[in-house]
Amino acid sequence: MERIRIGVIGCGQWGPNQIRSFFFHPRTQVVRVCDKDASRLTAITGLYPGVAGTQDSAEVTRAADIDAVVITTPVSTHYALAKDALENGKDVLCEKPLTLRASEARQLAELARSKGRVLMVGHVFLFNPGILKLKELIDQRAAGQVYYLHAERTNLGPVRNDTNAVYDLASHDLSIFNYLLGGRPRVISAHGRCFLQKGIEDVAFVSLEYPGGVLAHIHVSWLDPKKIRQITVVGQDKMITWDDLSLTGPVEVYAKHVERYPNFRGFGEFYLSVKEGEVLIPHVKHVEPLRQQADHFVTCVQERKRPLADADSAAEIVETLEEIERILAGAR
Ligand SMILES: NC(=O)c1ccc[n+]([C@@H]2O[C@H](COP(=O)([O-])OP(=O)(O)OC[C@H]3O[C@@H](n4cnc5c(N)ncnc54)[C@H](O)[C@@H]3O)[C@@H](O)[C@H]2O)c1
Repeated sequence: MERIRIGVIGCGQWGPNQIRSFFFHPRTQVVRVCDKDASRLTAITGLYPGVAGTQDSAEVTRAADIDAVVITTPVSTHYALAKDALENGKDVLCEKPLTLRASEARQLAELARSKGRVLMVGHVFLFNPGILKLKELIDQRAAGQVYYLHAERTNLGPVRNDTNAVYDLASHDLSIFNYLLGGRPRVISAHGRCFLQKGIEDVAFVSLEYPGGVLAHIHVSWLDPKKIRQITVVGQDKMITWDDLSLTGPVEVYAKHVERYPNFRGFGEFYLSVKEGEVLIPHVKHVEPLRQQADHFVTCVQERKRPLADADSAAEIVETLEEIERILAGAR
């Protein structure tokens, strides 16, 4: 089978990771990379022999020698670049979140459909082995009925200026929660503050309710002393944690719960008893999520399949982000 010829637009902080994934992928060839900033191009083309550089994105989106375009530029540029690539018959892998506005995301989804192109979004945590294990455990009802989820995603920077911390960071947690729970939130509330830049929240606390009454909470911050990437799932029978930075294994299952016993001294009353239990650390094979994501994109392009992180599910995430943004903006 012929290698898929790839063009990558955006060689900033994240772009080089995508370039590496596709450069070393056995079924792709990175033909050209693009960045407006010439110094970024020199850095990349110096690292990867045979890869050409251009400052003009049209030399990627409209090039006859490119089959698929990977977009790793700031969110505010995604819509125009993805639209141009799709209109010119390219398959597209676009970084998350797909766009700033949900209407734009829906347009791109429709355009990809009408052109018969693959449009996948880089919701990379759907390829994270720890998150896959969490999904497996929830689907097996290992925790019993899920009561609530809590996500924490903090660090000191990197600080962006075209989106707030919700678009930048909570987009990951929304993609994870929607995947774990198989739906999207129906009730949304949020608090945030713009400590560093006017009109751009660097910290936010988002509360959600999913179908079935499952509560979810997301804390995101660019202004925190610690890098934390954690999720807690509290269920009726067990509690499960995910820690992407853990050295012992990303997932821990706590056999902890609260039992109800009938209180025979009262009438129809219960007393609650806290049950402590062992902690299980299931084996989770370490594989690089970004490589898995690249592999999935390549398979979808070659087999003309609908990707896991497709444009419709990505548009739902943008809709939620937009609603959170509306709530936060109302309180600025
Ligand atoms: N999946 C992840 O875990 C993850 C992590 C970091 C960033 N990202 C995503 O990757 C994207 C880029 O983030 P980053 O941190 O690399 O940003 P960045 O600002 O470091 O880099 C963006 C690069 O794009 C270039 N650029 C901007 N507009 C361009 C255009 N029209 N044509 C060509 N080049 C252009 C800039 O010169 C810059 O070098 C964002 O969508 C971000 O959300 C994803």
